[in-house]
Amino acid sequence: MRTLLINCGPIVHLSSDDDVATRTVDNSVIEEGKAIIIEDGVIANIAPSQEVISEYGDNSGHHTIDVHGRAVIPGLIDAHAHLLWSGDRSQEVRWRLEGKTYRDISEMGGGIQSTVNATRASSSDELQKEGYVRLRSALRTGTTHMEVKSGYGLNTETELKLLEVASALSSDRNLPTLDPTWMGAHDTPKGMPHEAYIESLISEQLPSIVEQGIARSADVFCEPGWFSVEESEDILKESKSSGLDLRMHIDEFADSGGSQLAAELKVQTADHAYHTSLDDRLKMKAAGVITGFLPGTPYAMGDLWPNMSEIHKHEIPYTLATDFNPNCQTLSLPFMASLMVQRCKVQPLDALASMTVTAAKSSPHKNGVHGIIREGAIANLNILDSPHWESFSLKPSHTPFSATVLNGTFISH
Ligand code: NIG
Ligand code: FE
Repeated sequence: MRTLLINCGPIVHLSSDDDVATRTVDNSVIEEGKAIIIEDGVIANIAPSQEVISEYGDNSGHHTIDVHGRAVIPGLIDAHAHLLWSGDRSQEVRWRLEGKTYRDISEMGGGIQSTVNATRASSSDELQKEGYVRLRSALRTGTTHMEVKSGYGLNTETELKLLEVASALSSDRNLPTLDPTWMGAHDTPKGMPHEAYIESLISEQLPSIVEQGIARSADVFCEPGWFSVEESEDILKESKSSGLDLRMHIDEFADSGGSQLAAELKVQTADHAYHTSLDDRLKMKAAGVITGFLPGTPYAMGDLWPNMSEIHKHEIPYTLATDFNPNCQTLSLPFMASLMVQRCKVQPLDALASMTVTAAKSSPHKNGVHGIIREGAIANLNILDSPHWESFSLKPSHTPFSATVLNGTFISH
């Protein structure tokens, strides 16, 4: 099966360089007038439209789409999402506005634990239906691949159920592909002593997850009051020796040493990281750790934005992702880009790289190269509704895309 996208506008390929210091519009964008040839879900060639039209013009064995000069960017990668859970915590907004903290709300019976109760009560079918609707919504705003965490089960049975649902959704060709992460260490289930839960994570949950081969990575909520640095270290080291890649939630509420552990263990990505000191950011950078910023969380919770000028000045590699969860109910990466570009002085090219080429490093696609547009890459692309590629970051309330190509299949929005 061959698809020709002819008369493309500017193509932001991002394939020459993923170095924040040397990436420029000149070395990341191809001028308009090209065609992208897609064969069997892979980008086969990028060539001048006229040449492609004369070579393939008479051949009916393909599907030709005229892009009419609209800009093209890679498929977006959401490198941090809590996709699967049931229930509704909307009432917590009133408590937050009355001044209650995340910890207070959790002690009042809200927070993660209340989502855990609702999620345990849902069947696999119900979770799969919810996941399907959410993934179709993410696809409409250009997401073609997503890192998906368990973590609202907090027992072996439900954590396995969540990862099994993720695996079923990932094999649906009409949905973004998924990169599954086990996050049993998201909270301690009610009624179980904290130490006993950690012991069960290591001796029961982790071995079952590994035996089923349904998670690529492990993640831990390393934050005072949830999992300490020492506890996180035990869980992560055990996960690593069981063959999983490592991810962390760190410094969301306080600078508590999680970043030093992230650097020491060379985790793939350490996310939130709002209260991390510059010194620790530099240690993570030296250790090859990517920082995942999740602008939807401060947006939803009324917290401060990260200091992006400092991040840029020190060339800290970072991804931008949604952190979709019951408190932060958006799966739109263009909205994340808008928050960064229109509120935090991030250049559109840097915002785009953080949700494509850099995100691909923290959440690799099991079928090959993605997050860039070049020969041999998986054909995951977004066609804007504008000739200006920057517009992907300027439409926070509706999709900036007229169409998405998902693993080679053209989907009109
Ligand atoms: O990344 N902070 C930990 N986990 C999620 C939120 C969990 C929840 O409140 O349900 C996050 O923001
Ligand atoms: Fe999160």
